[in-house]
Amino acid sequence: MDIKGKVAIVTGASGGIGYATAKLLSSKGAKLALVARSQNKLEQLAKELPNSIAIPADISKVEDIKRMIKQTCDHFGRVDILVNNAGQGYDAPIEKIDVDVFRGIFELDFLGPVVAMQQVIPIMRKHGGGAIMNVSSGLALMYLPGMSIYASLKRALSHISLTAREELKADKIVVSVVYPYITVTDFEKNTVKASERNWENDEEGDEGGAPFKADTAEYVAQKIVEGIESGEAEVFVHDWMKTAPAS
Ligand SMILES: NC(=O)c1ccc[n+]([C@@H]2O[C@H](COP(=O)([O-])OP(=O)(O)OC[C@H]3O[C@@H](n4cnc5c(N)ncnc54)[C@H](OP(=O)(O)O)[C@@H]3O)[C@@H](O)[C@H]2O)c1
Repeated sequence: MDIKGKVAIVTGASGGIGYATAKLLSSKGAKLALVARSQNKLEQLAKELPNSIAIPADISKVEDIKRMIKQTCDHFGRVDILVNNAGQGYDAPIEKIDVDVFRGIFELDFLGPVVAMQQVIPIMRKHGGGAIMNVSSGLALMYLPGMSIYASLKRALSHISLTAREELKADKIVVSVVYPYITVTDFEKNTVKASERNWENDEEGDEGGAPFKADTAEYVAQKIVEGIESGEAEVFVHDWMKTAPAS
């Protein structure tokens, strides 16, 4: 897809990967609907990016997602690109998983992106196609103790993305999934934790031999935007992730 002039919704645009992705899409000429809960940060970014609007919304709430799509259509008349990026980690061993926290993470990391897809599909179909990029995680490909809920939801997001891709081919709606690796953002700080984990040690490496230098949000944004442009099904931010051992 040629991004110039396209209308893109980026969720989680107030920081991290979403912020970097919104900026890069804007630099390529996209019109942006910037979505997250932090209104001030979104409004600041909207001032910087031409043809952009701030839409404060909680992606774990179905009504907010519907409003986000409606506001985007009311303002721009269409949606060509949806980047389902808003998300949060949950670090808890199986026996310590709190069912209510699980539900909240499920609603944000899986249900929210699915509802957003449901809402944009008829709009994209009406306008002849579109691109949906769902932000999964490298953890969806691995078995990291403590991260079972988060990784399972990201794996489910990957699966539904690739199934939707098949379903929507005839409508020229290209659904893709991206697997970021450890990225320097507030993700770790915002992860809900049942107990403390020393992430710095995690980043030193593991027996799988994978290189463990964290990526910048700008690097991941570049991969996301290249994925939207190429329409590839799965975007691995590093080639070694395609064959890395899962545990
Ligand atoms: N960083 C990593 O190492 C890494 C690795 C793999 C995958 N990922 C995935 O990449 C995506 C972006 O994460 P990040 O690293 O950029 O983390 P981040 O710095 O914590 O940013 C998360 C973004 O999501 C928004 N958000 C959180 N809860 C929300 C809610 N209920 N409704 C709407 N927006 C919400 C936040 O904004 P507000 O607080 O303003 O709402 C923020 O803009 C996530 O899906 C994450 O799972 C990250």
